[in-house]
Amino acid sequence: MLNRRTFIKLASICLLPLSQFSQAITPQYRAITLKLRTETQDWFANYAPIQLWASDLKQLDLQQFETVQIEVQNQLPEATSLHWHGMRVENRMDGVSGMTQAPIAAGASFNYQITARDAGTYWAHAHHQTYEQLARGLYLPLIVWEAEKYVVDQDLLMVIDDWLINADRQLDIASLANFTEWAHGGRKGNVITVNRQRDNIYHCKLGQRIRLRLLNAANSRIMTLAFPNLKVWILAKDGQPLPTPLKSDKPLTLGPAERYDLIVEIPQSIGNFPIYEVSAKQKLVVSNIVVTANDRLLQHDSEPLALPENRLPKIDKNNIVHRKKLLMEGGAMGNLQQARYQGELLSVNELVKKQQIWSFNGVANLADQPLLTAKSGEMVEIEIINQTRWPHAMHLHGHHFKADSAFYPKNIWHDTLLIEAGGTTKIMFRAGERGKWLLHCHMIEHQASGMATWIQVS
Ligand code: C2O
Ligand code: CU
Repeated sequence: MLNRRTFIKLASICLLPLSQFSQAITPQYRAITLKLRTETQDWFANYAPIQLWASDLKQLDLQQFETVQIEVQNQLPEATSLHWHGMRVENRMDGVSGMTQAPIAAGASFNYQITARDAGTYWAHAHHQTYEQLARGLYLPLIVWEAEKYVVDQDLLMVIDDWLINADRQLDIASLANFTEWAHGGRKGNVITVNRQRDNIYHCKLGQRIRLRLLNAANSRIMTLAFPNLKVWILAKDGQPLPTPLKSDKPLTLGPAERYDLIVEIPQSIGNFPIYEVSAKQKLVVSNIVVTANDRLLQHDSEPLALPENRLPKIDKNNIVHRKKLLMEGGAMGNLQQARYQGELLSVNELVKKQQIWSFNGVANLADQPLLTAKSGEMVEIEIINQTRWPHAMHLHGHHFKADSAFYPKNIWHDTLLIEAGGTTKIMFRAGERGKWLLHCHMIEHQASGMATWIQVS
């Protein structure tokens, strides 16, 4: 038996080391619960609300360098998984069902542990049966707030999406697997929303400088946005700051999954400033900036400041260890003769029966072997040759890369980039975390019908 004295003695001996030990094993992360479930929106007067898929949180806000554990509860009728697009996470947290994890069954949950290494604008989206789940709206924006606060008058989000709506004013589910669209530019919608609203408005005041975070969440539509009568600078692309904000007076094009952070300067005039989508012949108002009086006079005589740089591994063009070509073929008006699919060489007719029509280096969809294997830290260059008649939005998981594309400002970072029909672009990056990383077209119907490969980092 311990008498009181020995107990106190023991306790005082044990206490200090014990508390140190427990501190060491106490998880230093914040716990977040994210419920994936159905959502309704009143988009059309006189019709039943439209049924979408969504998460219960409208957006995720993380602090740079914090680690969070996100318990994703799948309350949907189907299995799913969540991918943290643009985030440099551990491979087993990348959310690719069938590759980095098993799908989260309906009713089940999965814990994602993520460290927000880079500040910026990202998003999380379904990565299981993506052509269906993304079209149903299963995504949410993810903002990593800079460790050193970046001061603006307002920080606003503009998530732009298109939806295919049928005569009953519901999502057109019947056309999700429409193969003709898969073989062309992907399945496009007929209704555009901003932040899931058809009548989104931003309220601003004279002279304010706004950080506007753009995200194209559409399955396949390339969006071009125009901001007439507003001063615009590009602050960041795909989460990564430009070394100096770049004045932009032309409409800005975003392929699916691309993001831009802008500084928008509100002029000294009260009124309504529409934001247009101008990629089609007819320009569409997608949102409005409503400007009202300001009780203080805001005048800017200097250019906006750059965001603090994220600590991405540096690119060294003179030290490339792996050089690879990626030949993209297929699609409508292409002349794909055959491709390997799940280990078999198939003719175009046979491929079409399996909903496949695009190939990377002669393989439709995921090959057994990676496009390349690199050691973590090694420099990689991939020359992407688009021999199809369509533009594509190529996305590399878990990495940011630089590209020699003339379409973009020089020397900026991407995790997704557009490659025009018939164009060739080299991308360069340093192999990151170990694991299997997807490289695919983010026109999700193209991904589903063949445009996907992967790299191995060892
Ligand atoms: Cu945004 Cu493979 O995904
Ligand atoms: Cu594509």
